[in-house]
Amino acid sequence: MLQKDAKIPEQPTGPREPLLRVEGLVKHFPIRKGLFQRQAGAVKAVDGIDFEVYPGETLGVVGESGCGKSTMGRLITRLIEPTGGKVEFEGRDITHLSMGQMRPMRRDVQMIFQDPYSSLNPRHTIGTIVSAPFRLQKVEPEGGLKNHVQELLSLVGLSPEHYNRYPHEFSGGQRQRIGIARALALRPKLVVADEPVSALDVSIQAQVVNLLDDLQSELGLTYVIIAHDLSVIRHVSDRIAVMYLGKVVELADRKSLYSAPMHPYTKALMSAVPVPDPRRRGLKSERILLKGDVPSPISPPSGCRFHTRCWKATDICKTQEPPLLTLGTGHQVACHHPENAPDQAPGQQVLAEAPDSPQDGPKE
Ligand SMILES: Nc1ncnc2c1ncn2[C@@H]1O[C@H](COP(=O)(O)OP(=O)(O)O)[C@@H](O)[C@H]1O
Ligand code: SF4
Ligand SMILES: [Mg+2]
Repeated sequence: MLQKDAKIPEQPTGPREPLLRVEGLVKHFPIRKGLFQRQAGAVKAVDGIDFEVYPGETLGVVGESGCGKSTMGRLITRLIEPTGGKVEFEGRDITHLSMGQMRPMRRDVQMIFQDPYSSLNPRHTIGTIVSAPFRLQKVEPEGGLKNHVQELLSLVGLSPEHYNRYPHEFSGGQRQRIGIARALALRPKLVVADEPVSALDVSIQAQVVNLLDDLQSELGLTYVIIAHDLSVIRHVSDRIAVMYLGKVVELADRKSLYSAPMHPYTKALMSAVPVPDPRRRGLKSERILLKGDVPSPISPPSGCRFHTRCWKATDICKTQEPPLLTLGTGHQVACHHPENAPDQAPGQQVLAEAPDSPQDGPKE
C-alpha cells in the first residue's frame, strides 16, 4: 500500500474549528453481580480521553485489541451513552442528546463497521439496505430513490444491477463496499470506520482502503479510522492517536509519529511492523517485544497503565499517571521518560530491564 501523501490537510493558518471535539470522555461498563444485580465493579473501557478532529482530515486510532478503540468510536457516534466527559460536533454539545434529538445529527455522523457479514441484513436486498438511511430520515433524493442508490453503488465500485441482489451473493470486499455506500448515502460530514478492512483478505484490503481515500477527496469527508494494524493506519491517517487501556498515550501527525515515536508503547507497536521500503529495512533492526497481554481494564495498573509491560518503567511510573503533554509541534505524549525527548520526570532511575524478560510480541 502506498502512503497517503497527496492530501495532508493544510497546516493551520489561524485557529481552525474542529469538526469533533472530545473532552475527558469516559465509558465505564458496570459489572453487576448477584440476585439484586448490584454493581460489583466496572470495565473502564474508555477512561478520560481528549482529542479533536479537523474538517477534511483522517484521524487514525490504533492500539492492541481491548484498548477501548471500538468503545471510543461508538461514543463519538453516540451509539452508546458516555459515563462522563463531553462530545462536541461542530461546536455543539451532543453528549447527552436523546435518540430523537440525535436523529438530524445521524445524517452528519455515520459509522462503518468491521464485519461486512453481520452488519448487512441477509433478508434485505442491496437496494433496501442502501436506501434505508433515506427512509429513516424521510429524505427523498432528487431524481428518485432507486436512481440515487444505483449511483451510490457505482460510486463505491459496484454495479447498479446489484440493486436487487442479496448480501450472500457478494464477497467480503463487495459487502464492505455496500456498507460504505450505506454510510455515505446521506453525505455525512464525519465517518467513523471501526476496523473497516480487518475482516477482509489482505489482497482486498488495499482496494477498500484506496476506495475510502478516493471517496474522502471526492466528497470532502472527515474520517476517524480505527485499526489495530499499523500499516493500514499509516496509509490512511493524517494524524494518529495511540490508545492503551482506555487512554490516549500519544497523538501526533503521521510523519512525526513514524519518524520519532515518543511513547514506548508506540515504539514497541511499530517495531513489530515490517518495514515495506527495502531501502529503509536495515535501519529499523531494533525489535521491541511487548511482554504479556493488555492488563484487565477492570483494575488497570496504577500510575502509568503501561508500566507492567514497559522496559523503561521507574518508580514514578508506578505511582504517578503521566499527563498527556505537548512536547513537539502538536506532538502529544503521556510518558515520564519519553523517547526522542527529555524526560518529563528527570532524576528518576531508569530500570536496566523490565522485571521479566520479554517473551511475546504484540497481540495483533
Ligand atoms: N458492552 C460492553 N460491556 C462490557 N464490557 C465491554 C463492552 N464493550 C466493550 N467492553 C470491554 O471494554 C474493553 C474495550 O473494548 P473495545 O472498545 O471493544 O476495545 P478495542 O476495540 O480496542 O478492541 C474490553 O475489555 C471489552 O471487553
Ligand atoms: S511513564 Fe514510565 S512506564 Fe509509562 S510508558 Fe513512560 S517510561 Fe514506560
Ligand atoms: Mg474493536
